[in-house]
Amino acid sequence: MPDGFVWGAATAAYQIEGAVAEDGRGASIWDTFTRRPGAVADGTSGEVACDSYHRWRDDVDLLEKLGVDAYRFSVAWPRVLPAGHGTVNRAGLDYYDRLVDALCERGIRPFVTLYHWDLPQALEDAGGWRVRDTADHFADYAAVVAGRLGDRVQDWITLNEPYVSSMVGYAEGRHAPGATEGHGALAAAHHLLVGHGGAVRALRAARAGARIGITLNLSPAVPATGSAADRAAAHRMDLMLNRQFTDPVLGRTYPDGFAELYAGVSDLSFRRDGDLELIGAPLDFLGVNYYYRIHAADAPRERDDPARRSAFDIGVRSVTREGVPVTDLGWPIEPHGLYETLTGLAQRYPDLPPVYVTENGIAQLRDDPDADPERIAFVAGHLAAAARAAADAPVDLRGYFYWSLLDNFEWARGYGPRFGLVHVDYPTGTRTPRASYHWLRERLSGRTGNRF
Ligand code: BGC
Repeated sequence: MPDGFVWGAATAAYQIEGAVAEDGRGASIWDTFTRRPGAVADGTSGEVACDSYHRWRDDVDLLEKLGVDAYRFSVAWPRVLPAGHGTVNRAGLDYYDRLVDALCERGIRPFVTLYHWDLPQALEDAGGWRVRDTADHFADYAAVVAGRLGDRVQDWITLNEPYVSSMVGYAEGRHAPGATEGHGALAAAHHLLVGHGGAVRALRAARAGARIGITLNLSPAVPATGSAADRAAAHRMDLMLNRQFTDPVLGRTYPDGFAELYAGVSDLSFRRDGDLELIGAPLDFLGVNYYYRIHAADAPRERDDPARRSAFDIGVRSVTREGVPVTDLGWPIEPHGLYETLTGLAQRYPDLPPVYVTENGIAQLRDDPDADPERIAFVAGHLAAAARAAADAPVDLRGYFYWSLLDNFEWARGYGPRFGLVHVDYPTGTRTPRASYHWLRERLSGRTGNRF
């Protein structure tokens, strides 16, 4: 990896903090959603999680001993603005202030994500991301956080995975707020991007020299077979999952075929003149979360049968391919997909900004605080793929963040899947570094400059 390459680990507020009712924090859509029967596989919530709201010093110690250059964490909007806008809760900001101070004291660079899915419930009650006001409130919130932390934080990530916030939250209903709407989900996706653009503007106005990016989850969509129908299905999946976000964020219009894809679902009337200029303002970096490739097959019956049609059905089924190893969650393990993602970005966008892999990781279902050889193999394989991509294509790859520092609340799957370099015993909060943590630590300590 090049000099200056940033090695890091990542977490998100609702997944680790707990303390959901402490020091004036308002409710978020995840507090509400997790109370819905059946919403979370094991019936749990982020109410306590890793208790990082109290144990953050332990987390910082773990990061320091690991030897990473950077920590990516998120700020919980409802801690800072309990109603989403209006009155600022100083006590909520104090928590991040202390965390940022502790990181800076240890020479660990904070990468702050402003939105990792925990929308204040009050804003959802007023329409959530379906309505443009939420985007405006998000920009104001960004300015508030930058006003408090921006003297020490340079690196900002506006949104984490707007695809998941909009499509999984508002169309599939598997995530908060648990809606199953077609038009509403597309409006949410667009307004998330408008909010991103507004936040970029607000951050630049608040802090000269801020480095600003957005994190997208990108997966190459490959046809399950060579048939024309599967190739067309893969293209539709690529439009929905990847290019709906990469094109406008990187200064293009929405991709060709976008309106046709959603014909009958939405007239896209939420778009306004000037939105694309706002959304496509130049960025300092693009964050890429890569977990797996999608093998896309045409699913005509689902598309044509109104009874089986979800709020959002583009006629694509994701299939498993024989011979491809999978994680405990059934996710295909294909490091080459990271290579394809990075080189594909470079090919499609000649003006691609620098890239960070802001998430990549593997879950295990067993509750094992020790040996995790599959995690070591996963990281090594994906780092090699990323390095190959940077050598083969004009990708300015600046860093890699493992997801996650800690086992944590894995959204609708609850606490079963464990992604951590560090095991968490939830009843006691005890943190135990796994073999993968020691493996990474040894490699980071053996660096000459920024090389392994
Ligand atoms: C999210 C994380 C999540 C991880 C593993 C990403 O989509 O940003 O919050 O835990 O994937 O599922």
